[in-house]
Amino acid sequence: MKLDDIRNISIIGAGIMGHGIAQVFALGGYAVCLNDAIPEALERAMVRIRENLRIFTANGFVTEEEAAVAFGRITTEPNLDQSVKNADIVIEAVKENAAIKQALFEHLDAVCPAHTILASNSSSLLISEFGSTTKRQDKMVLAHWYNPPHIVPAVEVIRGAGTSDETADLMYDILKKVKKLPVRINKEIPGYLLNRIQMALVREAWYLWQAGVASAEDIDLAVKGSIGFRLASIGPLLTSDLGGQDTFCAVAQYLFPLISDAHTPPESYVKMVEGGDLGMKTGKGFYNYSKEEWDAVIEKRDKEFLQRLKNLYWE
Ligand SMILES: NC(=O)c1ccc[n+]([C@@H]2O[C@H](COP(=O)([O-])OP(=O)(O)OC[C@H]3O[C@@H](n4cnc5c(N)ncnc54)[C@H](O)[C@@H]3O)[C@@H](O)[C@H]2O)c1
Repeated sequence: MKLDDIRNISIIGAGIMGHGIAQVFALGGYAVCLNDAIPEALERAMVRIRENLRIFTANGFVTEEEAAVAFGRITTEPNLDQSVKNADIVIEAVKENAAIKQALFEHLDAVCPAHTILASNSSSLLISEFGSTTKRQDKMVLAHWYNPPHIVPAVEVIRGAGTSDETADLMYDILKKVKKLPVRINKEIPGYLLNRIQMALVREAWYLWQAGVASAEDIDLAVKGSIGFRLASIGPLLTSDLGGQDTFCAVAQYLFPLISDAHTPPESYVKMVEGGDLGMKTGKGFYNYSKEEWDAVIEKRDKEFLQRLKNLYWE
């Protein structure tokens, strides 16, 4: 299959990630079919997509007409087999659970057309493992998006042991075509590239919070105004070149033995999660906001992200 042969994309799982990925392909000109095991999730997804397109329009990313055309390219289909029957590419964005993904891939392998590429948006699992029971290893690939996927540019493209060059290249090329920033990951390792880096940062932030070194608000404020401010424009390796490797090396030699290398999340954090404080989903996490306040956080986040996207990547 060539890039120009691709017409239909099916997305399985219409949650936080699935609905945003659907929007990206619809804006890129593809017919998108969205499936979810829960019918209400499909309704919620379409409401979110409409709202996200409104924010895109309000920020000058697309015209109202382009948004309307893109919205019209998305259909929902609660029946899994129906939803993938014409798919050139299927992207799964269901729960992060190897057994669920494995069962889904086995089923997709059995019902999808022979040419269909099967992609996963798993955040940490290895496609060579949960996808090992399908008969189309060459057409399986991991494409790991970042939340919110309709805005954050980078998508990691990770090959499984049997992924063909053609499949990996097609995924890379189609992501470029829909204005994402695909990154080839050369080795299939758990967490890939970005979650390993993100989790190293998050682990230290959680431990600093538990130790009371600063409040959650101040930890976020400090990171946003320094490391985060820089990282949007220059990566960590260029940052260390610009800062001087002698200095970075000396700081690393002093600090590496002192910063967290814990193999489990800190106790207070786990207590928070087990107590049902999951963040925006339940209203309370590190922050305790009303529904309106969470909505305002998202609106502000998206506005700032879109501004950055425009400055850095969007033609
Ligand atoms: N949330 C993130 O920040 C993020 C970032 C990158 C990757 N991911 C990965 O993307 C995937 C989805 O995450 P999410 O945050 O969107 O989850 P989510 O819980 O918001 O959505 C998952 C959706 O999948 C549906 N679903 C579950 N099993 C299904 C099945 N067998 N068939 C059809 N639909 C099914 C659920 O009903 C739900 O609507 C996970 O693998 C996750 O690790 C998440």
